[in-house]
Amino acid sequence: MKRPTVVTLSTIVLLLVVGRVATEADPETLGQTVSVPPSTPSPTEPLPFDEPTVERFFTAVKNQLRCGYPMFGVPSLVPLKLSYTLKTSFDLLSLKKISVVASNFTVHGLNEFSWDPSRTRFTRTSATVPLSFPNVTAFAHTSLNGANGTSFLELRNVTVRLDAQYEEKDDLLYVTDLSGSVLLEDAKVKIASLFPKSAKLSKIWNKAIGKSLPILVELFNGGKLKIEYLSRLLSGAKFYAMNTINNALNSHSLNFDRLVESMIKFADGAPDSLQCDGTAPMGGDEFAGWLRA
Ligand SMILES: *[C@@H]1O[C@H](CO)[C@@H](O)[C@H](O)[C@H]1NC(C)=O
Ligand SMILES: *[C@@H]1O[C@H](CO)[C@@H](O)[C@H](O)[C@H]1NC(C)=O
Ligand SMILES: *[C@@H]1O[C@H](CO)[C@@H](O)[C@H](O)[C@H]1NC(C)=O
Ligand SMILES: *[C@@H]1O[C@H](CO)[C@@H](O)[C@H](O)[C@H]1NC(C)=O
Repeated sequence: MKRPTVVTLSTIVLLLVVGRVATEADPETLGQTVSVPPSTPSPTEPLPFDEPTVERFFTAVKNQLRCGYPMFGVPSLVPLKLSYTLKTSFDLLSLKKISVVASNFTVHGLNEFSWDPSRTRFTRTSATVPLSFPNVTAFAHTSLNGANGTSFLELRNVTVRLDAQYEEKDDLLYVTDLSGSVLLEDAKVKIASLFPKSAKLSKIWNKAIGKSLPILVELFNGGKLKIEYLSRLLSGAKFYAMNTINNALNSHSLNFDRLVESMIKFADGAPDSLQCDGTAPMGGDEFAGWLRA
C-alpha cells in the first residue's frame, strides 16, 4: 500500500501533464529554444512558486482524473479500477485457516485531495509535495474460503508525501528517483462473508478487526509493518513508473523549464477538444498494466 500510491500518483500527475502537452504540441513551437535566465539558480536552492497557480494546477488534475486520457492509455481514475487479484491465507487464532482471494478492486476518493503549500519544496533537482486525502475507500470482491462478498477498506485523512529527484542531461529531464511516505490517521474495514453461516460471528469479528485498526495504523505510520511481498511489488512499480515518466518526458523533449511551462499551461488550460467535460463515463480496466510492472 505504501509506495504504489505514491508511485501511481506521481506517474498520473506527470502523465496528465505530458498528455496535455502532446495535445497542444504545435510544430512551430516545438523546436523553439527556451530562454535561459541570466543567472541559473543553484540546483538545490528552493524555487519560489505561485500558490494560486499550483492550486489551479491541482484543480485541473482533479478534473482530468475523472476523464483520464484514453487516447494515451490513461483511463478514468474516478473511481480507479484495478484488475489485480490478491491471493493469500492466514490462520485465525490458529483455529481456522482462511484463504482469501480479493479481486476487482475499486478505489474511490483519489480526486478529493488538498495540497499543503507550507510543506512543499521545489528545486531544479528535487521536489517534495504533500497531499492529503480525506477519504480513500477501496472496495473489492472477496472470497473467503469460497464465500463471496464485497469488502471495503476506508482510509481517513491519508497524507501522501511525494519525493522526486531528477536531473537534466542533454537538455532533457530525467527522473532519477521516486519515493515518498504515507501517513494514515484512521481506517475502517468491513470484510464480507468472514463467517458465511453466521452473520453474528461476522459482525463480532468485523468489530474486533475494526478495533484493532488503530494499532495497525500506528504500526503502519511507524514503518513497523514491513511486508516482503509488498516491497517487491513496489520496487517493481517504482521502476515501471520512472521508466514511463522518463519515456514521456523524452518523447515530448521536456527539460525542466519546458516541463514547468507546460504545467502552467495545463493549470490555465484553455478549453479544447481533449479537455474533460466531466460527464462522459469511461471504462477503466486498462489501468491494470500500471501495477503489473
Ligand atoms: C470482475 O470484473 C470483471 C470485469 O469488470 C467482470 O467481468 C467480473 O464478473 C467481475 N468479477 C467479480 C467476481 O465481480
Ligand atoms: C468515504 O467514501 C466512500 C466511497 O465513496 C463512501 O461510501 C463513504 O460513505 C465515505 N465515508 C465518509 C465518512 O465520508
Ligand atoms: C465466488 O467468486 C468466484 C470468482 O471470484 C467464483 O469462481 C465462484 O464460483 C464464486 N462462488 C460462489 C459460491 O458464488
Ligand atoms: C480528518 O481531518 C479533518 C480536518 O483536518 C478533521 O476535521 C477530521 O476529523 C479528520 N477525520 C478523521 C477520521 O480523522
